[in-house]
Amino acid sequence: MPAHVVVGTQWGDEAKAKVVDYLAENIDAVARYNGGANAGHTVAVGDETFIFHLIPSGILRSRTKCILASGVAVDLEQLFIESNELVERGIVVEGNLLISEDAHVVMPYHKALDIARNKRAGGIGTTARGIGPVYADKHAYCGIRAGDLFDRKRLIEKLEIALVEKNVVFEQLYKMPTFDPERIAAELEPYIRKIEPFVANTSLIINEMLDEGKTVLFEGAQGTMLDIDHGTYPFVSSSNPIVGGVCVGAGIGPQHIDRIIGVVKAYITRVGSGPMVSELTNDDGEYLREKGGEYGATTGRPRRCGWFDCLVLKHAKRVNGLTEVALTKLDVLDGLETIKICEAYSYKGERITELPKNAAALNECEPILTEIPGWQEDTSQITQYEDLPENARNYVSSLEEIIGCPVTFIGVGPKRSQTIKVPR
Ligand code: GDP
Ligand code: IMO
Ligand code: MG
Repeated sequence: MPAHVVVGTQWGDEAKAKVVDYLAENIDAVARYNGGANAGHTVAVGDETFIFHLIPSGILRSRTKCILASGVAVDLEQLFIESNELVERGIVVEGNLLISEDAHVVMPYHKALDIARNKRAGGIGTTARGIGPVYADKHAYCGIRAGDLFDRKRLIEKLEIALVEKNVVFEQLYKMPTFDPERIAAELEPYIRKIEPFVANTSLIINEMLDEGKTVLFEGAQGTMLDIDHGTYPFVSSSNPIVGGVCVGAGIGPQHIDRIIGVVKAYITRVGSGPMVSELTNDDGEYLREKGGEYGATTGRPRRCGWFDCLVLKHAKRVNGLTEVALTKLDVLDGLETIKICEAYSYKGERITELPKNAAALNECEPILTEIPGWQEDTSQITQYEDLPENARNYVSSLEEIIGCPVTFIGVGPKRSQTIKVPR
């Protein structure tokens, strides 16, 4: 005891990494439990900015152990690009990073399949990091796990099994070159040797830490609306970012979890296709995108922006059992005369206040917006809650009431120092 979870409540990019980095000061370990290098997690400390795709954001805190638990899809090449960059910038990685022996490894054919499917009709605009295909193989019993990498003969046998069907698809459907198990194993060899000392039984290690009274923080990737089971399927990612994903993806019991911190952006954004009822396709959307720097940290794609959606947040509160909220990017709303909140949807002429989960139904919904007065002051230098403009505090209170749990942190800028701790 205890485990804390930082979970995205919207479509990802809520600024989870900033919250993790802020909290990690007093944490013994930070573990990723879902997703892979599709994540783009930004941390700004002083004048330096770090973007993580795989390595937990806690790596910037020297006393924090960082873990890629079994639910993470590990891309070996990306892992070493990231770790080399960190080492060049003076961050200690060796000895501070562990990778679960059960974590599935993203292979070159997963990325090739992801890219090919993106181009086909019905492609959902993925990050092309091989995420859907790697989790599909996991569930089809033909994935390759980190623990499988070290016995060359066994690895090649497993690659052969994984490629039987895929090579037919590459050759006949996509008219692409096929993949050769021997060649993949040879190409991965340098990474495999490097990764060996990092691979461990991370479920055991995390449970031992929790039993010793150490604190472990779980860093979610993506967000609730991208959850494979509880998001806007099929416009989702292939893992479970929701809090339930922690038990599955890290191998711990739920009784350890005492704080579930939902990261909530003060407006909404989404990258890729799929319904987004309160999306703004006008100047207001452009304003939020430019002021908020809403461009994907992984693919650089412009993020779609919209007004805060109460139905999404009520759903996120419920499926995650949030105990508190970190409200981020409040400063982006500075200077707006009025701010809108999507309090309900109009669906087939009816007012609805709970999220229909079906993507087709969502596409037929129109937002019902309520307007509240904005504030003109710059909040980015404010450090105390009571110094926020009255209308900003009113906005925070309105969101607290809608979500049904307390806001404990407020972000007023990208930097670690631009975080207000709300007195409770
Ligand atoms: P994550 O994937 O949830 O970790 O979020 P991203 O890193 O993809 O996106 C969040 C972006 O907002 C990053 O560029 C952060 O540096 C930035 N950011 C984080 N918190 C704040 C904030 O409170 N205000 C502003 N203006 N930017 C923030
Ligand atoms: P972080 O952790 C925002 C989106 C993609 C696409 C869908 C499926 O930074 O919040 P995938 O590559 O996962 O198969 O793509 O999910 N997506 C994200 N959007 N933030 C993320 O991660 C995302 N990870 C995946 O844009 O719509
Ligand atoms: Mg991101």
